[in-house]
Amino acid sequence: MTHSQRHALIVGASRGLGLGLAETFLRRGWQVTATRRGAAPGLERLAAQGVRIETVDIDEDASIAALHERLRDEKFDLVFVVAGVLMEADRPLHAVSRAVHAQVYLTNAVSPILFADLFRDRLAPGGTLAFMSSVLGSVGLNTEGGWENYRASKAALNTNVRSFAARHADRDFGVLLLHPGWVATDMGGAGADLDVETSAVGLADVIEARAGRTDLAFLDYRGETLPW
Ligand SMILES: NC(=O)c1ccc[n+]([C@@H]2O[C@H](COP(=O)([O-])OP(=O)(O)OC[C@H]3O[C@@H](n4cnc5c(N)ncnc54)[C@H](OP(=O)(O)O)[C@@H]3O)[C@@H](O)[C@H]2O)c1
Repeated sequence: MTHSQRHALIVGASRGLGLGLAETFLRRGWQVTATRRGAAPGLERLAAQGVRIETVDIDEDASIAALHERLRDEKFDLVFVVAGVLMEADRPLHAVSRAVHAQVYLTNAVSPILFADLFRDRLAPGGTLAFMSSVLGSVGLNTEGGWENYRASKAALNTNVRSFAARHADRDFGVLLLHPGWVATDMGGAGADLDVETSAVGLADVIEARAGRTDLAFLDYRGETLPW
């Protein structure tokens, strides 16, 4: 690693957008540490190209704490919490069990903040703390409904990130909520608008362009500001 090489921590990189982001930052010359929960053949292929593979389940406090300890000597220019779940979002709110609501809210809206609060001391000055949100998390743009529990979890993530940013107003790193577009992954499905590479390249451009800023923004993969 050269002295000026930037270092990214991509959380939730076993497949989909997280894997695409790990690959994109690697191609751009970044040092990349990427996490999975279980087997991740796509990510394991990137290990041969220099990606450091780590393990974390963001829903488990002990797992986050153990990763934080293993990475105690590292500083990151980017910490990107990509991990998220989509469960029974095709059903209206009343048709989903309380247990599923709780799981979606925990993983999408709470666990990313618990992760960030522990890892903010691992961010280099001028670095970026990014969270994978969605345009569906925009309250203002919710005119047609649908995706009810998922939409609410991403709106809650946005609110929780705003609270995090306010709580850490004296931070020396930027905070981003990012919408990747509708992307063909296991979650997005085959009929989505974008392939993973197009979205990941756009997201990486947005992140690189904002290096050194310490404000909070809600942006899509083209750098367009989204309404709260
Ligand atoms: N695809 C889209 O169109 C789209 C649009 C807007 C926003 N997003 C958001 O983008 C992010 C990535 O989505 P994707 O499309 O790439 O989905 P995906 O293909 O379903 O991948 C989800 C990733 O999150 C990981 N993950 C889930 N729960 C986790 C946990 N508790 N701890 C650690 N990792 C966990 C999964 O790991 P495992 O392999 O271990 O399950 C997997 O790596 C999500 O936050 C999603 O909400 C996606």
